[in-house]
Amino acid sequence: MRISLHSYKGGTGKTNITGNLGKYLAKKKHKVCIIDTDLNGSGLHSLFNLKFNNSLIELLQNECDASEIIYKPEDDLDLYIIPTRVWEEDLTSFFKTPSEAREKLNQLIEFVKREYGIEHILFDCSPGINKSSMLIMNLVDNAIIVSTIDRQDIRGTYLLTNIAKKLGANVHLLFNKIPPDKPEKITELILEFSKKLNTDLLGSIEFDTKVAETWSRRLVIDSNLDCGYCNQIRAIASDLGLD
Ligand SMILES: Nc1ncnc2c1ncn2[C@@H]1O[C@H](COP(=O)(O)OP(=O)(O)O)[C@@H](O)[C@H]1O
Ligand SMILES: [Mg+2]
Repeated sequence: MRISLHSYKGGTGKTNITGNLGKYLAKKKHKVCIIDTDLNGSGLHSLFNLKFNNSLIELLQNECDASEIIYKPEDDLDLYIIPTRVWEEDLTSFFKTPSEAREKLNQLIEFVKREYGIEHILFDCSPGINKSSMLIMNLVDNAIIVSTIDRQDIRGTYLLTNIAKKLGANVHLLFNKIPPDKPEKITELILEFSKKLNTDLLGSIEFDTKVAETWSRRLVIDSNLDCGYCNQIRAIASDLGLD
């Protein structure tokens, strides 16, 4: 299955969710590949302590082959990472037309499936309403929009979700960093919001100090399999039919 994670604002938790979900699925013996497509704010590699030479940028510039940008952080897990270094423009700027960009990403997807037997591909996308995020939404089976309850975020998520739906993406909403106090009021707000958008509510994850304390230097799922955050990651995997 192909899954992408998006958001309107940055910092909603996409990269941590993608990394932990990928690791969880790999621990469950799935073959997983995570692709960092957040060119303007890349960071997936930090969570995996990954050192890399070539990245998605070099592939997009036709400077190397797909086999040279795939990294396997742990010998005993079928978890593959395609990192990216930071770039000042959108992913689509490497191509003359959107269909060329689409073709290149499809080739990459086919390559990881064929050469590594990958079952699940997770795309960590750039925040905001931008061309690359829209492009990837249309390449995947499920697009997850991650939001907090911050008003800027909520309003942007409303716009982003409507655009994604118009484009024909299979959209799910996921709330993150939910304050643990006033749970009923917040649950009501979230339910009302997803109802208004007529969009599937995949879940809501509380603000978890164990996640915050990792400072994206590691994956919380490696040390705290039973934390509230990890339980939500498991629930998401199950709801999406990944597990
Ligand atoms: N549920 C959570 N509880 C507490 N901190 C979180 C949670 N989710 C993410 N964070 C923290 O928020 C920051 C931004 O997360 P990140 O995954 O990089 O967001 P994004 O990729 O959307 O920009 C990180 O420091 C991360 O540890
Ligand atoms: Mg990120």
